[in-house]
Amino acid sequence: MSVVVLLGAPGAGKGTQAPVIADHLGVPILGSGDLLRAAVAAGTPLGREADTYMSRGQLVPDNTIVRVFLDRLEQPDARNGAVLDGFPRTRVQAEALDTELGGAGRRVDRAVLIDVPTEELILRMASRRICSANGHVYNLTSNPPLKAGICDIDGAPLTQREDDQEETVRARMSQQIPPLLDVIDHYRKTGVLRSVDGRLPIDDVSAGVIAALDDGAPA
Ligand code: AP5
Repeated sequence: MSVVVLLGAPGAGKGTQAPVIADHLGVPILGSGDLLRAAVAAGTPLGREADTYMSRGQLVPDNTIVRVFLDRLEQPDARNGAVLDGFPRTRVQAEALDTELGGAGRRVDRAVLIDVPTEELILRMASRRICSANGHVYNLTSNPPLKAGICDIDGAPLTQREDDQEETVRARMSQQIPPLLDVIDHYRKTGVLRSVDGRLPIDDVSAGVIAALDDGAPA
């Protein structure tokens, strides 16, 4: 197994669990949100375009993200596989990914859905904090750093994401969950979907994710 798609609503825990899969399989993480935030920070044309959508909680248009993400997938470090965190997010993106991988005799081997109810997600986002240096993910309630405001791993200050304001979070949920349901349906039909209860403590979700990678039965 090499290409794993991580699915879930905003805040479901994709960024928290992606490193667990990456370590288990020995493949890199390709995060669409990280890629877009880096472009925004660098002020590139992509970043300026993406920012107008991200700041309103909307998805970046398919024709923009597909080109950028598939280019990233072709880089040498992803040749032996990758964890895709945040892509695909629409049926069009899922089909474009299938076509790209199919052209190289590859496929999505597993799609893991981290399933959490919307109201719990809105609470989680308010207390999320991110390492400003390397994106390590914390939560003031469920996963606090050892020292307030400082990343345990590299000592960098923790910050709050701009799109974690409650109004933007609600917009992300209402705009992004319907296309997510299409993507879930796409992978259910191709037989690679597995679902994990994302309301459990983080370590239990990790165990469920690893079990989902090794499980041969359909969801
Ligand atoms: P992106 O960065 O991908 O954001 P997202 O999908 O909204 O997901 P998040 O990063 O907010 O949440 P997560 O699921 O990673 O949860 P986390 O692990 O941090 O995308 C940002 C934006 O870019 C989008 O809104 C869109 O505009 C654009 N974009 C990106 N990809 C795109 C695409 N393909 N097409 C078009 N546009 C695109 O966890 C959340 C919090 O919960 C943390 O505090 C964490 O510590 C805590 N937590 C995690 N697990 C648990 C648990 N089990 N119990 C309790 N707390 C937990």
